[in-house]
Amino acid sequence: MIVLGIETSCDETSVAIVKKKNRFLLGDVLSENTLSQVKKHKKFGGVVPELASREHSNTIDYLVKKTLKESGLSLSEIDAFAATLGPGLLGGLIVGSNYAKTLALTTKKPFIAVNHLQGHILVTRMKRKIKFPFLCLLVSGGHTQMLLVRKYNDFKLIGETLDDAIGEAFDKVAKLMGYSYPGGPIIEKLALKAKKRVDFNLPEPLINSKNFNFSFSGIKTATRKIIGNSFDKKLKCELAKNFQDCVTNCLITKCSKAIDLYKKKERINSFVLAGGVASNKFIREKFINLCAKKSLQFIVPEQDLCVDNATMIAWAAIERLQINKKGDILDFEPKPRWALEKL
Ligand SMILES: Nc1ncnc2c1ncn2[C@@H]1O[C@H](COP(=O)(O)OP(=O)(O)OP(=O)(O)O)[C@@H](O)[C@H]1O
Ligand SMILES: [Mg+2]
Repeated sequence: MIVLGIETSCDETSVAIVKKKNRFLLGDVLSENTLSQVKKHKKFGGVVPELASREHSNTIDYLVKKTLKESGLSLSEIDAFAATLGPGLLGGLIVGSNYAKTLALTTKKPFIAVNHLQGHILVTRMKRKIKFPFLCLLVSGGHTQMLLVRKYNDFKLIGETLDDAIGEAFDKVAKLMGYSYPGGPIIEKLALKAKKRVDFNLPEPLINSKNFNFSFSGIKTATRKIIGNSFDKKLKCELAKNFQDCVTNCLITKCSKAIDLYKKKERINSFVLAGGVASNKFIREKFINLCAKKSLQFIVPEQDLCVDNATMIAWAAIERLQINKKGDILDFEPKPRWALEKL
């Protein structure tokens, strides 16, 4: 089975062709191309939705043709066409989904509507076997959710952020320090250069609460106050390290409790870390240690599969087609909000 996937939910236009291997449910990427719009949005200090959809529509045709050519396949050899239908920016979702629908219609092949978050999570199963159910922490630019994943389309939300997503907090703190989007990789690099131990006393909201929810806006506000208060710029690496330590500790503390509960309750034996923030090496290390301590298999995608990409969209479609061969209707509407529990 070979699927062409399209991702256009934010500021990355991405097209990938993924093939399911015959004997096991694992996959190979035949070709992938991603064009980032980061430079186009830079001067505005954030993603401008109108500009993003124009860019997607300017580049999608070129990217599909290039990706097909690199795969060595013709359009008729593709078995299904998938696109992100949400959550995300409506204009971008319309561009990508209409393109995939048109390809499906003209080739008479199934069209598959994929949830972007489902893609972030399921792509971890493309290269190795991970049995359901597993526990997953999704840490991205727009989401911070702890989920019990029972099947490819059965997700139970067990905790989430009550305010900012963790990626958003990384981005905002970097912006306060004068850096541009995306701030996460910049904070990670700064933190690595921290020389001395300075304690800025950042808060750790909800860390002792009994549920599995998170809160990051207070940490960001505390950082803003520190920066606005005759901050010695020579300490920016130490501040970045404090911030990264603090948010990581919040994640680890809550996940440790969730693992204790769900290991017994649901007999999970794997823990998956997914989403853009999962490319942070410091956070990955902490989770490797946590899972080793709890005797759980730990899985995190390769770094370029953590951030937005079309491979994860094509792969999620393959998982779905394994179980349900029927495609989605062509008037399936894009959903800017689309919770994983409502698949
Ligand atoms: N090394 C890193 N450390 C911390 N954060 C990172 C790192 N690399 C990327 N990020 C963050 O990941 C986010 C982007 O991830 P992703 O592409 O999954 O988010 P998104 O698609 O914007 O949001 P969502 O998937 O929730 O819709 C940004 O907030 C970025 O700063
Ligand atoms: Mg994403």
